[in-house]
Amino acid sequence: MKNVQLYDKSFKLYMPYEEIQKAIDAVAEKINEDLKDEHTPIFVGVLTGSFMFFGDLMKRINLECETCFIRLASYEGTSSTGVVKQVLGLTQSVKGRNIVVVEDIVDTGTTIKELYQILNENGARSIRTATLMFKPGSYKYNIKIDYPAVSIPNDFIVGFGLDYDQIGRNLKDIYVLDPEETEKRKAINVK
Ligand code: IMP
Ligand code: MG
Repeated sequence: MKNVQLYDKSFKLYMPYEEIQKAIDAVAEKINEDLKDEHTPIFVGVLTGSFMFFGDLMKRINLECETCFIRLASYEGTSSTGVVKQVLGLTQSVKGRNIVVVEDIVDTGTTIKELYQILNENGARSIRTATLMFKPGSYKYNIKIDYPAVSIPNDFIVGFGLDYDQIGRNLKDIYVLDPEETEKRKAINVK
């Protein structure tokens, strides 16, 4: 599929599934190497967006590890509200543990900053971050993003777990907002 329409917005193909898989291969290889001497890390998936990346990443991790999920929210529509609230707490103790946060996308970094604070308050020993997509142009904190699978410009993307107002997460490939096509369609609909 080259184009998709989600509600009022048009999107075009940005990164096909095969390319995403290659990017995940590379990240998994680095994590396996970097953490090989660390005691049983916990991979913490940030719901909902990370579910596809989390599954594909974990299949490639050959370390003894635990997994869990946390849910936070900071987004409405296509722009960050800048407010992060914890919705679902940690399901297991992180005290003294090595943590790998698994995110769908790091945009402004507000979510990651909040999450680091929560994990530190709960006594995590070390924290690293793996993210499928990273927008360095929009990132405003100095927490190191250890494992960005793909770095992208400040465009709005959907698919492979990422949503537009909760839809589009099930798309196998990643799509980018197409403002021209969106405007064209809007003009047609108005008539
Ligand atoms: P941050 O807190 O600004 O880094 O935003 C992180 C969250 O915003 C991500 O976990 C996503 O849920 C959402 N987000 C940021 N950029 C996009 C995008 O391009 N498409 C879909 N969701 C996004
Ligand atoms: Mg998210």
